Amino acid sequence: MSNFTNNLVNNFPEYLFNEINTQKLEARKKGRDVIDLGYGNPDIPTHSKVVDKLVEAAQNKRNHKYSVSKGIHGLRNAMKEKYKRIYDVDLHQDHNIVNTIGSKEGLTHLLMSILDKGDNIVVPDPSYPIHHFAPLIAGGTPIKIKCLDPENFLLDLTKVLRTKVIKVVLISFPHNPTTIEVNQDFYDRLVLLAQKYNFLIINDFAYSDVFFGGKKPPSLLCSDKELTNSVELYSLTKGYSMAGWRVGFALGNKEAIQALTKLKSYIDYGTFQPIQIASTIAINELDEYPFEVSEIYKERRLLVSESLESLGFDVYKSNSTMFVWAKIPEESSKTSMEFSLSVLEKSNVAISPGVGFGIEGEGFIRIALVENKQRIRQAMKNMQIFFDDII
Ligand SMILES: Cc1ncc(COP(=O)(O)O)c(C=O)c1O
Repeated sequence: MSNFTNNLVNNFPEYLFNEINTQKLEARKKGRDVIDLGYGNPDIPTHSKVVDKLVEAAQNKRNHKYSVSKGIHGLRNAMKEKYKRIYDVDLHQDHNIVNTIGSKEGLTHLLMSILDKGDNIVVPDPSYPIHHFAPLIAGGTPIKIKCLDPENFLLDLTKVLRTKVIKVVLISFPHNPTTIEVNQDFYDRLVLLAQKYNFLIINDFAYSDVFFGGKKPPSLLCSDKELTNSVELYSLTKGYSMAGWRVGFALGNKEAIQALTKLKSYIDYGTFQPIQIASTIAINELDEYPFEVSEIYKERRLLVSESLESLGFDVYKSNSTMFVWAKIPEESSKTSMEFSLSVLEKSNVAISPGVGFGIEGEGFIRIALVENKQRIRQAMKNMQIFFDDII
């Protein structure tokens, strides 16, 4: 019998969202109008200026060749200037910045270029799924730390650091799925720990530009301006609503960035050059667009939070991300998976069970704000009408 797969892939845990997805597709096949608030796939269009630039650049045959895996100079320079303009952090476009094919690819290859087999890496639980899997792909040993509030996370991390050698601490604030935000002081304390215990902090900053409370989410790099222990992953996916374009960056510590740059130079030729050119326009000229995008999420968030609270959910307060994270009311004895399946079956609304993000997410649900207000209103109405059956 042939065996063309390996243990790494064979042993990947089952993707818990598959069950909801399968049921959703079955329901749609039967003609049911399922409102999908499960998958965090942004529905807001990319700014027309970026699309127009892509079209123009694609018509120039010089842009049809291989590009460079680390990203064209102009793109990296745009990021250098953005970090100076927004965060007052000095980055060198050749030493401290590399273009990635989104934050997801960037994280996976970054870990592959810095972890040796068996190296310990701290991963918050719950987390965006690739945060659980990328350490495994890279051969590291994930050490899960509960992350339902930042203070306890730091306390638990400190305990772990006293007993284990940790090479990397992976974080991501504002956080998916919990929507937790942190302040600069949190990063200041984390960087002090990193310097004391000699580990690298990687902050997946995917929601850097999605905020609506007036206060921009802080950057880890502001707490480590010498870039001794920090890397940040920045992405155009959410703030600029450019999910399908696959444009992200790893920024920060020179040694780590150079390791990733080297690995990527063996693996890929970078994103299609017209995409890099159009992304440069987004970064240089459209600082305001993420505010427009965020305003849309803010209104949707209000709608969902109010409806869930009226049903007895405990909703996490947040001024960031495109999600609502809520504790299932105590009167329900269902697991988050059973609860989510029940919401789908009874009210035709797909949501994500908290356990899909890690065991600490059990008891919670996550709602992605990726449909227009009218559809979201309908989804909440459906949940309200059928709530007695759902729980
Ligand atoms: C925390 C987090 N990181 C990364 C991503 C994916 O980002 P990208 O499209 O840049 O790969 C997401 C998308 O939902 C996310 O929530």
